[in-house]
Amino acid sequence: MLEEWLHAHVERNSSRPLQHQLYRALRDAIVQRRLTAHQRLPSTRELSMQLSVARNTVTAAYEQLISEGYLYSRHGAGCFVSDAIAETMVESPPQRHKKTQRNTTAAPSKRAQSALAMAERLSPRRSAGAFVPATPDLRHFALNDWQRLVRQHERQAPWQWLDYARGAGLDVLKQSIAQHVHVARAVNCAPEQVIITASTQQSFDLCFRLLADAGDLLALEDPGYTGTHSAALACDLRCAPIPVDDEGLQVGAIPPATRLVYVTPSHQYPLGVVMSLARRQALLQRAQRDQFYILEDDYDSELRFSGRPLASLQGLDENDRVFYLGTFSKVFFPALRLAYVIVPPAWANSFTQLHDRFYSHGQLAVQSALAEFISSGKLASHIRRLRETYRERNDYLRELLTPLIAQGWTLLGGDAGLHFSVLAPQKIDDVGIAERAAKQHITLRPLSPLYWTRKKRYGFMLGYAAADKRELKHGVGILLALLQE
Ligand SMILES: Cc1ncc(COP(=O)(O)O)c(C=O)c1O
Repeated sequence: MLEEWLHAHVERNSSRPLQHQLYRALRDAIVQRRLTAHQRLPSTRELSMQLSVARNTVTAAYEQLISEGYLYSRHGAGCFVSDAIAETMVESPPQRHKKTQRNTTAAPSKRAQSALAMAERLSPRRSAGAFVPATPDLRHFALNDWQRLVRQHERQAPWQWLDYARGAGLDVLKQSIAQHVHVARAVNCAPEQVIITASTQQSFDLCFRLLADAGDLLALEDPGYTGTHSAALACDLRCAPIPVDDEGLQVGAIPPATRLVYVTPSHQYPLGVVMSLARRQALLQRAQRDQFYILEDDYDSELRFSGRPLASLQGLDENDRVFYLGTFSKVFFPALRLAYVIVPPAWANSFTQLHDRFYSHGQLAVQSALAEFISSGKLASHIRRLRETYRERNDYLRELLTPLIAQGWTLLGGDAGLHFSVLAPQKIDDVGIAERAAKQHITLRPLSPLYWTRKKRYGFMLGYAAADKRELKHGVGILLALLQE
């Protein structure tokens, strides 16, 4: 009987290996109780002859079944069906995929609902082309070189790297980051102050949990980055939107009893404004007077093309009020998932301990490869190359937009980063236009949904880093045509 079953289930002409087919057929026979507990199976020699397959094939299938507990062997007597399996296992019913049901019992928490509603306000995101915002040029990233370096570090990995990693990041990476931000952004810190995270989003989460309690007030830029708002809602913080003008966040509008202030002073998201020195000093003084902390998100300002680069707020801070947030998503690639928070010295211990407690971390070979990439000067050359490419694309896009500027549109924040913004001279349906552009495969991020209060401005963020000249030209053609409609 077993022989017939196996003949029916082992197909010589199938692309699936014979050994696997034989294993599956025997396993099914045991699970479906076609074979009884302690029943002896034919010897490997007999079965290989019955089925006309190599004896090794049968031996390998038997060995797998023994290792999984379906069979046991008795020296000199052969292989037998295990009783535990034959008596207790029942065949699991074939998987039926349930249709995804909407609006049923899957009701997210209120704070999750707010974050989901915010995500819905954003247009769908593509990975390249005009005018994908906040995305580097992934298509020309030197992936082979990077992969080679990671493999080299993987080969040298000590066994300890397999454990839960402690200490909020590899020391060598902390050292390289501390040196890099000192040179590139005038940030002053010791390596112990660098806390490695998986993303800015995780940096927010860590800062919010450590520096604030539920109900505490977070002042943030209006318009601003929705990622901050979502993370704040998830930690039950209250948010106070503060207007941004052409000198940056209006410090005078920060409410009393604010616990944290979030700013993007070097390239305001989304408008691109650089916070003036006077505002920076006012913000630092206010932080010291009112005892709040500043989260400085410096997400893309290593990529500055023109204008005088202002030192980071952290570099100006003499009272340890600033937490500096950096990421490799813009100068490297987002899937790397490595970012960092530089905390004041007094906070280094608690941040490290809570980082270990909440997330721990891993991928130490990647961290170690990145450390080498930075300390060998390769990151600095990579950034120099990017700067050249993005500067050209930035110039080209400005040129293409001349007709728009002639119609009274304002271009903002074109001196740095991966995007700039264009503000319409009057109210327009920027959301509707972005939806129509998406149908033509053009990503336009409308500005009005990034305002929290009613005093909205209208226009678009235009990313140029992830698009070549042909794509930019095509995109501007579509944008101008949509604005004419
Ligand atoms: C303002 C701002 N901060 C930070 C980030 C980077 O986030 P992450 O490190 O989570 O990729 C982005 C990405 O778009 C951003 O726009």
